[in-house]
Amino acid sequence: MLSFKILETLALFTVAFSDLAVAETETAGGFGPSAYTAPGAFPTSVYKHYYNSPTATSAQPQPVIYDPVSHEIYPLELTDPSTLPKNDTHDPHILPPTASSGQILESAFQQILSIAGSSSFETNNCARCQAALQVGKFLAMAAPEQAPTFVVRVCEHFNFDQDCATTYGLDQLGWVITQVIANADVGGLDGQMICSNFISGLCSPTTTPLNLTNWFAKPKPAVLPAAKKPSGKRLKVLHLSDLHLDPRYTNGAEANCSAYQCCRDNVVNSQTPDEMVFPAPRFGAYLCDTPLSLMLAGLKAVPILAGTGRTGFDFTLYTGDLVSHDPDNQLSRDYVLYTETVLYDLIKKLINTGPVYPALGNHDTHNEYVALCFDAESNITKLSELKMLLTPLVASWGTSLVGVYQDRYAVIDSWLTVEPRNYDHVAGLWEHEGWLPQSAIDFARSHYTAYMVKRQDGLRVISLNTDMWYTANYFNYINMTNPDLFGMLRFLTDELQDAEDAGDAVWILGHVLSGWDGTQPLQNPTNLFYQIVDRFSPHVIKAVFWGHSHEDQLMIYYANNATSISAQAAQAVGWIGPSFTTSRNLNSGFRVYEVDSETFDILDAHTWKSDVNSYPQLDKQSVRGPTFEYEYSTRKAYGGSVPGWGPNDPLNASWWHLVTEAMEKDPALVTTFNTYQGKSSVRTQPCTGDCITAKICYMRSASASISQQNCIPGFGTVQ
Ligand SMILES: *[C@@H]1O[C@H](CO)[C@@H](O)[C@H](O)[C@H]1NC(C)=O
Ligand SMILES: *[C@@H]1O[C@H](CO)[C@@H](O)[C@H](O)[C@H]1NC(C)=O
Ligand SMILES: *[C@@H]1O[C@H](CO)[C@@H](O)[C@H](O)[C@H]1NC(C)=O
Ligand SMILES: *[C@@H]1O[C@H](CO)[C@@H](O)[C@H](O)[C@H]1NC(C)=O
Ligand SMILES: *[C@@H]1O[C@H](CO)[C@@H](O)[C@H](O)[C@H]1NC(C)=O
Ligand SMILES: *[C@@H]1O[C@H](CO)[C@@H](O)[C@H](O)[C@H]1NC(C)=O
Ligand SMILES: *[C@@H]1O[C@H](CO)[C@@H](O)[C@H](O)[C@H]1NC(C)=O
Repeated sequence: MLSFKILETLALFTVAFSDLAVAETETAGGFGPSAYTAPGAFPTSVYKHYYNSPTATSAQPQPVIYDPVSHEIYPLELTDPSTLPKNDTHDPHILPPTASSGQILESAFQQILSIAGSSSFETNNCARCQAALQVGKFLAMAAPEQAPTFVVRVCEHFNFDQDCATTYGLDQLGWVITQVIANADVGGLDGQMICSNFISGLCSPTTTPLNLTNWFAKPKPAVLPAAKKPSGKRLKVLHLSDLHLDPRYTNGAEANCSAYQCCRDNVVNSQTPDEMVFPAPRFGAYLCDTPLSLMLAGLKAVPILAGTGRTGFDFTLYTGDLVSHDPDNQLSRDYVLYTETVLYDLIKKLINTGPVYPALGNHDTHNEYVALCFDAESNITKLSELKMLLTPLVASWGTSLVGVYQDRYAVIDSWLTVEPRNYDHVAGLWEHEGWLPQSAIDFARSHYTAYMVKRQDGLRVISLNTDMWYTANYFNYINMTNPDLFGMLRFLTDELQDAEDAGDAVWILGHVLSGWDGTQPLQNPTNLFYQIVDRFSPHVIKAVFWGHSHEDQLMIYYANNATSISAQAAQAVGWIGPSFTTSRNLNSGFRVYEVDSETFDILDAHTWKSDVNSYPQLDKQSVRGPTFEYEYSTRKAYGGSVPGWGPNDPLNASWWHLVTEAMEKDPALVTTFNTYQGKSSVRTQPCTGDCITAKICYMRSASASISQQNCIPGFGTVQ
């Protein structure tokens, strides 16, 4: 500001506008002259003082302006064209006060209501859902301790669940959702997939383009190595899946209940809550998991029916899921550990299995299917990030949540540091039963139970933990444009390359199937898996095995991402093992493969079943238990429709493709397939019309992407 003296002088300023006007000519009608030309020189008398020369023509005059209210003089810098300001540090810039975490919660909830009711999204409910997730994300980051409450409130408001607090509270899925929303790219693919898979299909994201540059160490050999000569010696391999023991099964409880899991003390049929509709038989029921009585009866039947009582099986595959289908809040770590302990022990005691190669299922962790894992390159940096990510929770809940495996495939499982960790426990049981070599045990412990076993006979077995591509595993929704978030497919690829180099055959097993109707696995990881199968089939990968659906299903993997679906392009088969559990509406079953001991090709598959419909008649007596009986031979069921296949030719991908071609011509074969799919249950839904087309399509769809692209949805199950 200028000095006070000048101020006084300037205060005396007067302006006489009349002096300035120069009239030219008068016009009629009382107006002024018809034109006026201003003088060229600036009328300097208007202002008393100038910062520059007001008569210079090179710049605009800069008069000195006095403010009669503030009594201040405005400085030249304010209007000097050569000193344009960029950073106003003088004026006040007032931010809102920091909100308390309670206020953030309240405001987030109000924003959700506002977004839900907003007309600006019109019918774009995907964008609406992603906008809502953004609100949740910032709440989860700023006030994580409020996020579970928020999820419960949103759930209650929109009526997403009958009992939101017990489903989404902090101790249930609340902490998981908070972790995932805080870390996910909710404005991108992560958000679209969350909206698509958890909030009734609001978005329909497509498969992310896959960049396979540098993925494979070597290209697929132009000329595949000559197939090995069959030995003619047949191995017997047992395939068990989805035992789902229910140790809380209650004889006489409601077996036709309105809850998901029946035959429990706490369930009723909501239409007749005071009346028992169907008391649970001692040996099991269609809407229930396996009671111990059925478990023992069935496992004892296996070696008798397979004729392996004395010889034993050559080896056994277990494709996952041991634990019952309880709501999450009725499960616990101990319940899962108990079931693992009981079932592996029973398999060992009752069946002369040979080595058992197990895979972990989505029910075999707690929280169920929640596996928090970090990618292959995870190392100290990532692990420290992970610790930081968990620190707010540790601080607010006082629990030690941080547990890491310091390894290339660093993983923190859902049990974190609480001992024993599930992966340690499971691997420990496999070690205790003597099923896997030490190298596989050690690897499984530190790699979420994935492992490779190199057998002496030229076969390698690779077991995957498919929680890493299961749609219901929330932790898959962080950075999901990466098709291999956990490094598991990198591990698989490296192992397959090693096997190819050594001339060994490989069988792959896991729980959640990679394709069929595309509802269970995620697109991006199974799209990559499919390309890996293509790269190493049929010369390395001889078969793939899954469980999870409880149904007797099958999928074919083709070359070139199934762009040509033909017998020539068919390369590998994914066998989905029938479940032991009868849930839901299925009979109990198991399978035995006959396998050539040199080629590891499958020569036949024999399936047994037990009719659950007959179980009520077994109550109130102890003479007779359930009957397990032979259901069918795969070769006999479909072989007649594939001419030219010799009795020792394998039931490989070419054969199965020809079966699907025969099905196109003769829908009766689809009916046969459908019957077996439900293990001949009286409750199996018939397959007609679109179902026939859809089922053949599912058999030809071994990745989620291909299934979603090619097939009519809605006919995946016979339940
Ligand atoms: C603005 O000025 C402040 C205070 O001098 C300074 O800290 C800040 O870096 C400046 N910002 C820019 C964009 O120049
Ligand atoms: C694919 O990956 C390679 C190697 O990482 C990279 O050089 C290339 O730019 C990528 N291509 C595309 C289309 O992203
Ligand atoms: C099961 O209960 C429903 C009513 O909730 C009834 O319609 C149905 O017939 C019952 N089924 C059996 C097998 O009892
Ligand atoms: C991971 O850490 C180990 C041991 O600190 C180090 O040898 C290795 O190079 C690291 N790997 C990566 C990918 O950073
Ligand atoms: C997700 O990706 C971003 C960006 O690449 C990365 O900063 C972040 O660490 C990743 N998050 C997890 C949990 O891997
Ligand atoms: C399946 O077996 C047949 C008969 O041995 C053989 O010709 C064909 O190449 C095999 N197909 C695959 C995919 O291995
Ligand atoms: C394979 O096909 C599916 C279905 O069309 C597609 O979404 C996916 O991107 C394809 N994958 C590759 C590697 O081309």
